[in-house]
Amino acid sequence: MSNEYKRLLVVSNSRTGSTNKLCIEAAADLKNSNNSSIITYSADSLTASAKDVMQADAVILGSSENFGYMSGAMKVFFENIYYDVIEEKRGMPFGVIIKAGTSGIGAYNGIIKITNALGWKEAIEPLLVVGCLTDLHLEQARLFGSTLAAGLEIGAY
Ligand SMILES: Cc1cc2nc3c(=O)[nH]c(=O)nc-3n(C[C@H](O)[C@H](O)[C@H](O)COP(=O)(O)O)c2cc1C
Repeated sequence: MSNEYKRLLVVSNSRTGSTNKLCIEAAADLKNSNNSSIITYSADSLTASAKDVMQADAVILGSSENFGYMSGAMKVFFENIYYDVIEEKRGMPFGVIIKAGTSGIGAYNGIIKITNALGWKEAIEPLLVVGCLTDLHLEQARLFGSTLAAGLEIGAY
């Protein structure tokens, strides 16, 4: 394993808290581990910059599903960074966390269409959480984060 630190960016936004809660959980174990060679940093989708993305080795994208699509905030994120990162960040590994009331598929598909255009590489199955948050969902989020990070650490992507 390389001694170099890898940087994992978590981009999310939440109107009522649940998407952010899942994303915080996804990064929680990584922040608590002394041995990890992963540095996590978070940014709100509304204010995340191209610089945030340029510094990342991998990204977790957290969005709610609103009106059958990704959150407006996640769309703002892509609009803000798209042309500034498209050349340099091709191939960047990412994972998607969706929090939805009943579906989540529309939000996921919308994100995948844009990440395909960016040339990013989905490194892990999406975490689609529907309905009220439970402890199981939070555990799934922790597993999601640690799995993505483990792959990043060993250079699997
Ligand atoms: C304006 C609005 C539109 C929504 N549209 C959808 C939708 O199309 N599909 C769905 O499954 N949930 C939909 N929801 C439910 C949200 O995705 C759900 O409440 C989610 O947990 C909100 O995430 P948050 O707590 O991070 O804000 C909608 C909620 C709002 C407020």
